[in-house]
Amino acid sequence: MMSLSNRYHRPALLEEVLQLFHDVPSGRYLDVTLGGGGHTEAILDLRADLDVVALDRDEDAIEVSSKRLERFQERVCIVRSDMKSYVQAISVQEEAAGSFSAILADLGVSSHHFDEAARGFSFSGHTPLDMRMDKTDELSAIDVVNKYSQTQLIEVLKRGGDVQYAGRIAREVVEHRPIFFTDQLAQIVSDAIPKRALKGRLHPATTVFQAIRIEVNGEFEQLDALLTCSRSLLATSGMLIVISYHSGEDRMVKEFMRDATTDRCSCPPKLPCVCGKTKWAISITRNPLVPSAQEIKDNPRARSAKLRAMRKVELQEGSR
Ligand SMILES: C[S@@+](CC[C@H](N)C(=O)[O-])C[C@H]1O[C@@H](n2cnc3c(N)ncnc32)[C@H](O)[C@@H]1O
Repeated sequence: MMSLSNRYHRPALLEEVLQLFHDVPSGRYLDVTLGGGGHTEAILDLRADLDVVALDRDEDAIEVSSKRLERFQERVCIVRSDMKSYVQAISVQEEAAGSFSAILADLGVSSHHFDEAARGFSFSGHTPLDMRMDKTDELSAIDVVNKYSQTQLIEVLKRGGDVQYAGRIAREVVEHRPIFFTDQLAQIVSDAIPKRALKGRLHPATTVFQAIRIEVNGEFEQLDALLTCSRSLLATSGMLIVISYHSGEDRMVKEFMRDATTDRCSCPPKLPCVCGKTKWAISITRNPLVPSAQEIKDNPRARSAKLRAMRKVELQEGSR
């Protein structure tokens, strides 16, 4: 029988994450997406020489994982925060610089968000549109759906879901306002799409709901802040490990890691570098790690996971 914590969320690519953690230096790592605590519990069991600072912006996740990790006592420091606010705040503190032996980000939402109908993430029930990971945030799906202009809605749908027929869907949404419930929005999306395009596809609301969720939670901005701060927060030999479930996020991670692991400095050779485009990490995953067929069978929600990792390196004396 599945444990309560695994019902909350079953961690994706767990074996692959543990394999990488064998090579993380001792010390303290940062888990910016604690969720149900599955990854972090297994990491702390694997490595008695590691402590963790673990974040989540969702109070339900904090409650479940605090219980799950209780036995590790002072090895665990749990903080309720979104990753952007946290990493930006500690990046300016001298003692935080170079202090983390790894940063683990397992992006997106947990299974709990979909399974708990009242959170308004899933289009399969009749619940108020919400989709906030942090229930105290001001912006919710109701605002995006009812207050954004048609042009803004098209942008949201294209950016966060690569949604086909974004123009038609946005027009129908604007015409049917006010829209309060998840199933109401799902029906409007279905009706907006030509019948021939509906056959044999995912429910058309899948990508629309994903795009709105990404907008509500500012997920691209959150990831961007994490990547930007990772260089200063990681210790030498520290690892950055990111699991993403969305092509836009994976592209951001891939490009960031490509830039960090490639020397593109164009400053004159004998002068100090001022462009900052120097290599500061080495890649660990040439290609992203993805779940095995068995993992997808056991946990279909892991199917779109992609893991990329790199390690911060010490710059040679005189190198840039
Ligand atoms: C895929 S789940 C992580 C699962 C976790 N690795 C585990 O083993 O259970 C993502 C979690 O990260 C949280 N989250 C997503 N984006 C976040 C952000 N920007 N800042 C803080 N927490 C975030 C969500 O609330 C959710 O609980």
